Amino acid sequence: MTRPKISVIGAGNVGATVAQILALKEMGDVYLFDVVDGIPEGKALDILEGGPHWKSDSNVVGFTTVNKENYKNLEGSDVIVITAGLARKPGMSRDDLLQKNVEIMTDVGKNIKKYAPDAKLVVVTNPADIIAYALQKITGIAPSRIIGLGGSLDSARFRTFIAQELKVSVEDVNAFVIGGHGDDMVPFVRYSSVAGIPISNLMSKEKIDEIIKRTRFGGGEIVNFLKSGSAYYAPGISITAMVESIIKGKNRVIPCAAFLTGSHAKHYGVKDIFIGVPIRIGENCVEEIYDMDFNNEEKLLWNKTVESVNASCRKVDEFLAGKL
Ligand code: NAI
Ligand code: 2OP
Repeated sequence: MTRPKISVIGAGNVGATVAQILALKEMGDVYLFDVVDGIPEGKALDILEGGPHWKSDSNVVGFTTVNKENYKNLEGSDVIVITAGLARKPGMSRDDLLQKNVEIMTDVGKNIKKYAPDAKLVVVTNPADIIAYALQKITGIAPSRIIGLGGSLDSARFRTFIAQELKVSVEDVNAFVIGGHGDDMVPFVRYSSVAGIPISNLMSKEKIDEIIKRTRFGGGEIVNFLKSGSAYYAPGISITAMVESIIKGKNRVIPCAAFLTGSHAKHYGVKDIFIGVPIRIGENCVEEIYDMDFNNEEKLLWNKTVESVNASCRKVDEFLAGKL
C-alpha cells in the first residue's frame, strides 16, 4: 500500500517542525525541500531516525533545490505545504515580507505547476492570504485546492488565552478568528463559547478586549521574545490539523484563507481574494465555505481586514503583470 505523499517546501523552523509532526503522526511519507544545500537532507534524515521511538514508518527524505532538477521529486504529491521564504524580525509586519516572498513564490510556484499540478496546497509563507493569492496565479491550480494558514493558528491562540483566563480545559473552548492573518484579524466573539456557553456570559468586556488584542498580536509577542525569527511550534501543529483533514478526509471545520467567489460576495462583500473564513476541509481541500452574516460592529472589523488584504492583492497583480 502506498502512503500519502506530503511535500514541504522550506526546511526552516516551520517546515522542519511540521515535517516532524507529520512523520510522527505517520500521516504519510514526507519530502522536504529547501534552497540551502544540505539542510533539507540533514533535517529529513534526523527526523527519520526518530521513527523507531515514535513507532512511525513514515519515510522522510530531503532535497536541495539548488539543483532545480530536484523539484522533480514533487511529482505525485498529494499535499504540498509551502513555508519557503523570509520570516519576521522585531519591528517588521507580515506585509513587509510581501515583495521578497512573492519573488520566491514565482520560482517555487513554477516548479509546483511543472511537477505537481494536481496537488493541494497549504500556504504558510507570509503574508499568507496574499501568498496564497499569488501562488494561485502562478500555478494555475484551482482556487478550491489552495488554503492558507492564519485562522487555524490564530484560533488556537485565542482558545489558549480564553482557557487560561477561565481556568478551563482548552478542549472545551470553541472560538475562531477570521479575516486576514494580520493585525486586523477578527477574533469572532459572538461564536466563541466554553462548552456552548458564550464567552460574553463568562468574562467582562474589558477582559475579552484584552484577549482579542493579545490574539491579534500573538505572532508579534513571539517575535519579540525570539528576536531572530517568528513562531513555529504552534504553527507546526496548526498546519498539521489542516493537512490531516485533507489526507484523511476528516471534514474538519477550521478557519483558513480560502478563495471567495461571487457566490460568497453577498455575505462577505468581496470576491477574488483569499481571506480567512470558516471552511470545511476534506479530501478535495476546500469542500465548503460557510457564509457568515455580520452585525454592524462586526462588519466594520471585517471591512478593515478585507481592505488591507485587497490592497496587497492588487500589489501582487502589479508585480506579476508580465511575469507569468
Ligand atoms: P525560516 O527562515 O526558519 O525558514 C524559511 C526557509 O525557507 C529557510 O530554510 C530558507 O532557506 C527557505 N527558502 C528561502 N527561499 C527558498 C526557495 N526559493 N526555495 C526553497 N526554500 C527557500 O522561517 P520560518 O520560521 O520557517 O517561516 C517561514 C515562513 O512562514 C515565513 O514567511 C513566516 O512568516 C511564515 N509563517 C507563517 C505563519 C502563518 O500563520 N501563516 C506562521 C508561521 C510562519
Ligand atoms: C505568526 O502569527 C509568524 O505569522 C506568524 O506567528
